[in-house]
Amino acid sequence: MKCIRKLTIVLLVALLTNLVSGQAIYDESQVPDYTLPELLISEKGKKITDSKSWMKIRRPEIVSLFEDNMYGKIPGKLKLSSWKVLEETNNALGGKAIRKQILLSFRKNNRELDVNLLIYLPRNVDKAPLFVGYNFYGNHTIHDDPAIMVPVSWSRNNEAYGVRDNKPTENSRGKLASRWAVDKIIDAGYGLATMYCGDVDPDKQTRVGIDFSDGVHPLLYKKGQTEPAPDEWGTIAAWAWGLSRALDYFEKDARIDHEKVIVMGHSRLGKTSLWAGALDQRFAVVISNNSGCGGAALTRRKFGETLIVMNNAFGHWLCDNNLKYDGKEDELPVDQHMLIALMAPRPVYIASAEEDTWADPKGEYLSGYHASPVYRLFNKPALKSEEMPGINQPVMTTIGYHIRSGGHSVTGYDWEQYIRFANMHLF
Ligand code: GCU
Repeated sequence: MKCIRKLTIVLLVALLTNLVSGQAIYDESQVPDYTLPELLISEKGKKITDSKSWMKIRRPEIVSLFEDNMYGKIPGKLKLSSWKVLEETNNALGGKAIRKQILLSFRKNNRELDVNLLIYLPRNVDKAPLFVGYNFYGNHTIHDDPAIMVPVSWSRNNEAYGVRDNKPTENSRGKLASRWAVDKIIDAGYGLATMYCGDVDPDKQTRVGIDFSDGVHPLLYKKGQTEPAPDEWGTIAAWAWGLSRALDYFEKDARIDHEKVIVMGHSRLGKTSLWAGALDQRFAVVISNNSGCGGAALTRRKFGETLIVMNNAFGHWLCDNNLKYDGKEDELPVDQHMLIALMAPRPVYIASAEEDTWADPKGEYLSGYHASPVYRLFNKPALKSEEMPGINQPVMTTIGYHIRSGGHSVTGYDWEQYIRFANMHLF
């Protein structure tokens, strides 16, 4: 019965999507009028005027609203069961770095989940601050270092990156190296840790035949459960959970300054870094690179990708409760400026790209702008102007923002700004 209902919803959504997807808005004059949900009025109607009541009253309310209506709640506790150093050397990257490959293992419900964490640390720093972020196709894709292990988890096919039959292979080694400025990061005195998102939850992408039988979800199923309940975690929330477990490991590693961990993500993984930063305030700095819909971009602008289009193509990312807002963005009790505000008073950086109109650069900027009143409650400088800065002209307050030239990707330019931003706030 549930299946039939779901299939009907899927077909309707697909039909509607076909009707509207050809008509994505790319013209400011077509952006509808909208009113953002109140950031600083509590559910009981109390005006929030200081950082204490933000932290005590409004912040938890907003976290719950996002859990119930966007990303879904984590239905229980699942801690790191054990970890094992699979490989370690003091002589990586031509001798300037330590490389560690750690297997994080989680056990529950007679299941085991194994996640490979790759870490590079600058050899000349005793306790390094560190960037952590997921990669899309396996740790071995981020650098051509031949020692990086190839994952065994399911992978999305991609001819260009050498993935066929959903199997990560040697062919993908270094294929996404241009997105990871490993040398710049190490030379700046930071470490870099990355995990393959598919180790935590495979990014299987259709709602018809949606598969929640693998990844982390089944470890927290109740008896007989086969998929998350409507208010339980989708894939983005599962990935966010994984970032926090990596941070649990960093707390145990004497070479890592776990109080200076910067969580970074691109695109769907940028949506993830934001949700991870919102849930886990141990992340010292949060960076979203071209995260767009369901990430930094304001949903109500409906510019570029809309919720309905995203949910149709990637129905597993958000929780099922979110489906009821497809095409009804104005009824959502949250918008994404509230997500950015959840980082306060910690530094948060939002990056857009000029040609990445699908992700709505202006909507990404405006989220930061509309989150700024919360930063002011903490006396932290935030975004003052409703006007976006020019191309390649970063603004760095406690909220950072840039729109660089070029398309949807992560570039050396992006990393240079992230390193500058981290230097500014962590030292
Ligand atoms: C698609 C999707 C976006 C997402 C992007 C990515 O374009 O529509 O929401 O951010 O993939 O993750 O690369």
